[in-house]
Amino acid sequence: MRTEKVEIFDTTLRDGEQVPGCKLNTKQKLKIAARLDELGVDVIEAGFPVSSPGDFNSVNEISKLVKNATVCGLTRAVKNDIKVAAEALKYAVKPRIHTGIGTSDSHIKYKFKASRPEIIERAGEAVAYAKSFVDDVEFYAEDAGRTENEFLARVCTEAVKNGATVLNIPDTTGYCLPEEYGKKIKYLKENVVGIENVIISCHCHNDLGLATANAIAGISNGARQIECTINGIGERAGNTALEEVVMILRQHPYLQLNTDINPQLLYDTSKMVSREMGMYVQPNKAIVGANAFAHSSGIHQDGVIKNRETYEIINPADVGVTESAIVLTARSGRAALAYKAKKMGYELTKLELDSVYLEFLNFADAKKEVADHDIHTIMDIYKKSARA
Ligand code: KIV
Ligand code: ZN
Repeated sequence: MRTEKVEIFDTTLRDGEQVPGCKLNTKQKLKIAARLDELGVDVIEAGFPVSSPGDFNSVNEISKLVKNATVCGLTRAVKNDIKVAAEALKYAVKPRIHTGIGTSDSHIKYKFKASRPEIIERAGEAVAYAKSFVDDVEFYAEDAGRTENEFLARVCTEAVKNGATVLNIPDTTGYCLPEEYGKKIKYLKENVVGIENVIISCHCHNDLGLATANAIAGISNGARQIECTINGIGERAGNTALEEVVMILRQHPYLQLNTDINPQLLYDTSKMVSREMGMYVQPNKAIVGANAFAHSSGIHQDGVIKNRETYEIINPADVGVTESAIVLTARSGRAALAYKAKKMGYELTKLELDSVYLEFLNFADAKKEVADHDIHTIMDIYKKSARA
């Protein structure tokens, strides 16, 4: 089956790093960039060079370090931003400048106090100026999610006319519904002049919990790049989570879309980013949360012990998790207890299991979770009572 590639544009070090309390130093950024390159991302957005000398330095150092991925720097549609970004990226094997401007009515009216024709002009000029430094220029239409489609197509046409290679359509405020975002991408595919020569990129925020769904709607309608972050970190409620989109494409082969990501590094990368950023991952986070492959109810545990596929759609080993976890609680049944006890070296007959199970329930009612060391205690109590 012929599948088409979706480019993975990682913005953990730029949009992700904008999270309150999550400043990374250059050394930490280099460590994460090296891992992202190893993970197989196509683009690493390394920072916003004009924003501070530290960010400039990080983009510069990452440009020297990264050998496979394109290294990208963000700018506003401002000449000095673009010049500084080009300077920061000068050592990159594959440099990209990411420039753009707000296109929604509220951005035009309140942020820029400008008119629509002025925005179109500034978009074109920014792309043309960026193009004088690098071949690869990505244009973003900030708040595209709330921008009227007909105007958005005109701004994008101007960006393409001036040499943009990628058109980023951000749902900056996480406002769109998947159907609406998908239709927006379809509209641009059909109405932007020169679209056949550029890639459309989805950049979705999670304010309504739809960042991943919107990105998938985008690629289902012809976009071929997804902007995302490890663990979905990012402004406010975050961005599309890299691990989610990668696994969605893997688990749904009929979509005929693939990425170059090595999924076996996903769990470890999630832990590394969480550690470096001091940003804890919610336990129920899809793919990489502590409970993503943990089973605690008796019915589910019984099923998973018989065959993992009864309650798991992903083999944990595929994303670098050693094995599914059976968490013993008062909801666990005999099958789970026997399974866990066996793993710890206790082979129990049916009769023995009945007695141990009663002791186990006493423990489980008293504690929320029965840990491995509790199993040893339960077995000791059982052995003593059996001898008496
Ligand atoms: O969310 C957004 O609009 C952005 C752009 C600056 C690309 O992060
Ligand atoms: Zn963003």
